[in-house]
Amino acid sequence: ELEETPMELGGEQGRWEEERLKTASLSFGAKKEREQGMRQEQEKYQLILEEDEMIDFVSTAITMKGTRTEKDTPALSQAELKKQSMQEVRRSLPIFPYREDLLAAIHEHQILVIEGETGSGKTTQIPQYLLEDGYTKGGMKIGCTQPRRVAAMSVAARVAEEMSVKLGNEVGYSIRFEDCTSERTVLKYMTDGMLLREFLTEPDLASYSVIIIDEAHERTLHTDILFGLIKDIARFRSDLKVLVASATLDTERFSCFFDDAPVFRIPGRRFPVDIYYTKNKIYCYKEQVLIMHPSSCCTFVLQEEIEACCELLQERCRRLGSKIAELLVLPIYANLPSDMQAKIFNPTPPGARKVVVATNIAETSLTIDGIIYVIDPGFCKQKSYNARTGMESLIVTPCSRASANQRAGRAGRVAAGKCFRLYTAWAFKHEMEETTVPEIQRTNLGNVVLLLKSLGINDLIHFDFMDPPPHETLVLALEQLYALGALNHLGELTKLGRRMAELPVDPMLSKMILASEQYKCSEEVLTIAAMLSVNNSIFYRPKDKVVHADNARMNFVVPGGDHLVLLNVYTQWVESGYSTQWCYENFIQFRSMRRARDVRDQLEGLMDRIEVEVVSSQGDNIPIRKAVTAGYFYHTARLSKGGYKTVKHQQTVYVHPNSSLFEEQPRWLIYHELVFTTKEFMRQVIEIESGWLLEVAPHYYKSKELEDSSSKKMPRKQGKTKEELG
Ligand code: CDP
Ligand code: MG
Repeated sequence: ELEETPMELGGEQGRWEEERLKTASLSFGAKKEREQGMRQEQEKYQLILEEDEMIDFVSTAITMKGTRTEKDTPALSQAELKKQSMQEVRRSLPIFPYREDLLAAIHEHQILVIEGETGSGKTTQIPQYLLEDGYTKGGMKIGCTQPRRVAAMSVAARVAEEMSVKLGNEVGYSIRFEDCTSERTVLKYMTDGMLLREFLTEPDLASYSVIIIDEAHERTLHTDILFGLIKDIARFRSDLKVLVASATLDTERFSCFFDDAPVFRIPGRRFPVDIYYTKNKIYCYKEQVLIMHPSSCCTFVLQEEIEACCELLQERCRRLGSKIAELLVLPIYANLPSDMQAKIFNPTPPGARKVVVATNIAETSLTIDGIIYVIDPGFCKQKSYNARTGMESLIVTPCSRASANQRAGRAGRVAAGKCFRLYTAWAFKHEMEETTVPEIQRTNLGNVVLLLKSLGINDLIHFDFMDPPPHETLVLALEQLYALGALNHLGELTKLGRRMAELPVDPMLSKMILASEQYKCSEEVLTIAAMLSVNNSIFYRPKDKVVHADNARMNFVVPGGDHLVLLNVYTQWVESGYSTQWCYENFIQFRSMRRARDVRDQLEGLMDRIEVEVVSSQGDNIPIRKAVTAGYFYHTARLSKGGYKTVKHQQTVYVHPNSSLFEEQPRWLIYHELVFTTKEFMRQVIEIESGWLLEVAPHYYKSKELEDSSSKKMPRKQGKTKEELG
């Protein structure tokens, strides 16, 4: 992506040192490891690696043709593991020796915090143990939440396989816009957001005997809200068991929040991981990431860079030809289709090597066996929220030290490993935060506030938050919901608000869909909503066919803005009979389109419930743009010198270079989202007329604010401008 300029971790040059990642501090685990005679000694010595030395190091590794040194040989290779029966594999997991103790502890305590290294078997085993122990008698369900869709899907698939059942029968998963469960489902993996929505239909979660809040350390917004709700229902549902599972992070805090619930620690197996830092800042980390090793490797990059990174790697391999051992390059990220995901778990053929290119999904959510090397550029993409202006943006930032340590921990699960940090030791110590700030403190709360209001929780200031959101953020969420018409002036849910809460999308999108009823364009708006939700992965732009791809993209441009372009793409795809070939010829990602279709079907299915008739505007795009305005009037920007300014807060923003309106620069725009890379970019913009703002949000905009600023200086033009505005 052109806007991705690598950020610098920089800072003063640090001294070079190689550190051993501290082995798990669990007393029992550490003791056991000592008994097993594993390398425990902390060695400290100086090591200097210049940028090119790092590359040299790696080139040496490449020419090793994949031969493994003794040290690099995994204790148990993935292939060997596969040879054993699934049951044997289950018995080999670190959690297995603690099965009985764990079940006894769960029996004894209503709420239990479970701590264990990534890969110890928490997610896949605990629900099975509970099932074997009778917790699903009478059709009661065991629910296990995951912060990420991919994790929910892949873990459910794995467990179904271990239990030799068909996915969707006894074991299923539920993620937004995709429900793979049935009447028979008793082990249900789901995203934390989905469990939150279940409160709407079943406020006491009566059909569940156990709720596992997994990956609790991730502290996603939804997980944090679940903490409060579940703690509350556990008080009057004494039969409900609550398990809070987490990697080895923060468990004391969970225990403290849940009234000093006991912590059950699963000792991990962990081999030492040598940590290397670079001497200088690394500017072009994409290149650095392409380091290759004689063994399996996991590289953490940003989601939008994954494909490019894989392509580059493959290109390098082709160039090296038979000089190197076969290298499997496998991406893993949130929207990757499940058949592709499954590949990372397949055993590596003998003599070959595997490079997994991952987003931070592989930090703790997914365990990939056999990883010996980790390359960590030290970045993540984080939501950040300005509670004063209400602007939310995705920012590429240095990850936290806790994240970096989790990443390093991906090596060393099966043998001693190495982690290459593409930043200085100084940066690690001084420029990275200790832990990641919980999402609740850096995101827009509109969605959850609407949901909590629908659950009848009116006093949000006193909600039992583990870490409360900033006061201004809560107030702003209430204000925005009021402006959207979801709350009345007393802060109570309106009928519109209740209907908005029925849709599993953000309030603005929800409002846009509901407004399409009034403007008689729900057919088109549903499509736009679905296309927006597949998130910028519609157009395919392979490096070797950039010109063709850009031309193909230009062919879809219609006047009015990106929303209408997306609508046009979808409409043409429908006309092609949902053709794969058509996608291929037009440089459109078929998978994204298929997903958009799923999302659209789901949303259309919900239209009945919120009583919106699905009708078309018959080619008139004004109603469509008005419906978008009705939902997103907060996101209005006006053309000003050198860029755009948001209307309410006078923030400078720019049209994204990929936008169909990049050159045109109309006077008034509404953006779907802001992305901060080199600048604050508006992604997916649509042209509007300022007069519409008064029509859709008269209580929010005053006509004075919408006067053209240039017209103030040139009063003679004012009349004309007003005419233009209607
Ligand atoms: O939750 P936790 O990190 O403690 O471990 P887990 O996800 O239950 O994984 C336990 C084992 O199952 C690991 O050795 C994984 O490699 C394996 N697994 C797998 O092979 N395929 C999956 N889709 C998920 C887990
Ligand atoms: Mg897990």
